[in-house]
Amino acid sequence: MKDRIKELKEKFSAQLGTVYDQKSLEELRLAFLSKKGHVSALMSELAKLPGDQKKEAGALINSFKQEISAHFDEKMEQIRKAEEERLINSAESYDESLPEERARGSYHPITLVQRELEDIFGSMGFDVEDYSEIVDDYHCFEALNIPPYHPARDMQDTYYLSTPNQLLKSHTSAAQNSIMHKYGPLLKEKGRPIRAVFPGRCFRNEDIDACHENTFFQMEGIMIDKNISISNLIYFMKTMLSEVFERDVTVRLRPGFFPFVEPGFELDIQCLICGGKGCSSCKDSGWLELCPCGMIHPNVLKYGGINSEEDPYEYTGFAFGLGLTRLAMMKYGVKDIRTFNEGDLNALSQFVSK
Ligand code: PHE
Repeated sequence: MKDRIKELKEKFSAQLGTVYDQKSLEELRLAFLSKKGHVSALMSELAKLPGDQKKEAGALINSFKQEISAHFDEKMEQIRKAEEERLINSAESYDESLPEERARGSYHPITLVQRELEDIFGSMGFDVEDYSEIVDDYHCFEALNIPPYHPARDMQDTYYLSTPNQLLKSHTSAAQNSIMHKYGPLLKEKGRPIRAVFPGRCFRNEDIDACHENTFFQMEGIMIDKNISISNLIYFMKTMLSEVFERDVTVRLRPGFFPFVEPGFELDIQCLICGGKGCSSCKDSGWLELCPCGMIHPNVLKYGGINSEEDPYEYTGFAFGLGLTRLAMMKYGVKDIRTFNEGDLNALSQFVSK
């Protein structure tokens, strides 16, 4: 009996070494421990033994049985762990304890308005340009006909970096000069008009309240070609605003001063809530101030490399600076500008694109 068991033990450990999954382990278990298995066969042999050898042989068989059962359990645990690991690492892994539906993010209302405007201007042939938030004094002011110590700088006090001559841009107009240099050659060599919009985050040193923020968004636009006039400006503004508000809007121009446009205007739209009769939203005036604009100043066109000293009016153009934050407030009826920057997801997740 001893030899039989020794032989079976060797057979068992040799076969166990080749087992890698639950199925083959189960086959091995059946081969040894089922009714027709090796251990049962030993028991039948035991029955045939003479009485005095039975006790010892029975004990041997029992301990053999316990030993291989322990091996089975150990192997089973190893296989289970390996399987779990494989699932975690494989592409099809999943965690059944995760909630079915995960919370989805939503677009910021300013992003929604910005994209809508990009689409509208894109359909009118405008390029969409991106520009840095850190600029130098030249691009933010001097190239826009605002020399040092000019009083117009007071309205645009911003944040200066400790690196010399670097500041956070106070308006998207800061990109005008670079865009003129980028597209100017195409205009002059190929006659392709410059049509570009450039949205961006702007910064100003403001006391914050429901209507003022130190961080806000604008979308600037310029169009430059031969014979561009104020009527082109009015046409583009009216078309764009009618699309944004999904109805015909009435606009008017009032004179406004900005050193980089001449003449310069404030563009108002007729109040959409009262239709111009006067209400609390338009402070009883019937009009809402929306978009400063004007014809680009000859100096700015010169600094941008568009016109020469000899012919300062060869090309003309218009520029507008749409307050994206303000537009989003009007479109969605947001009363407090701080809503946009506070990061309160309850408020911000309510906005959806049309
Ligand atoms: N950059 C000006 C501002 O932020 C707005 C503006 C843009 C005015 C273009 C005229 C033309 O105040």
